[in-house]
Amino acid sequence: MTPNIQIIFASMSGRNQAIAGHLQAQLASRAQTVVTEISQADAFDLTQADAVIVVSYTYHDGDLPDEAQDFFADLKELDLERTKFAVLGSSSKKHLHFGRAVDYFTMQLNSSNGEQVADSVKIDQDPDEADWARVDQLAQRVLKSLE
Ligand SMILES: Cc1cc2nc3c(=O)[nH]c(=O)nc-3n(C[C@H](O)[C@H](O)[C@H](O)COP(=O)(O)O)c2cc1C
Repeated sequence: MTPNIQIIFASMSGRNQAIAGHLQAQLASRAQTVVTEISQADAFDLTQADAVIVVSYTYHDGDLPDEAQDFFADLKELDLERTKFAVLGSSSKKHLHFGRAVDYFTMQLNSSNGEQVADSVKIDQDPDEADWARVDQLAQRVLKSLE
């Protein structure tokens, strides 16, 4: 059966939205994908997916985006029942806590009993060719975990 992959993104200036769209294109031939902006996403739906990919920028001083706070709080209440997941995001090395939101999501999804199937990927601002290759590798790892 075709696996169902939920891609949830937080993006203010568009980079992480573009990464989410790229992932969807990468996965489309082998999975059903749904892309949702994080403030519209319901964490309690995640266990219905075969895999979840969270794509987020980092804001403030190494914190989650404001619009990700509710989703993140709900994750703490959740048993993901070993739902497969991966995390990535564009943020900026100009800031002290580079990509900290990626770390927070990775830790919380593990704590919520998810199964991490790819190393988390941090991208400095606009993805370059090597970054896109890492994004594609993450997508392949997610697909492989669903075989
Ligand atoms: C006010 C502000 C605070 C930020 N704080 C951080 C930070 O603490 N750590 C970090 O890695 N990036 C930080 N960033 C950089 C963004 O995460 C980065 O520009 C990211 O690529 C934006 O993604 P988007 O285009 O999807 O919104 C900050 C950006 C702004 C505007």
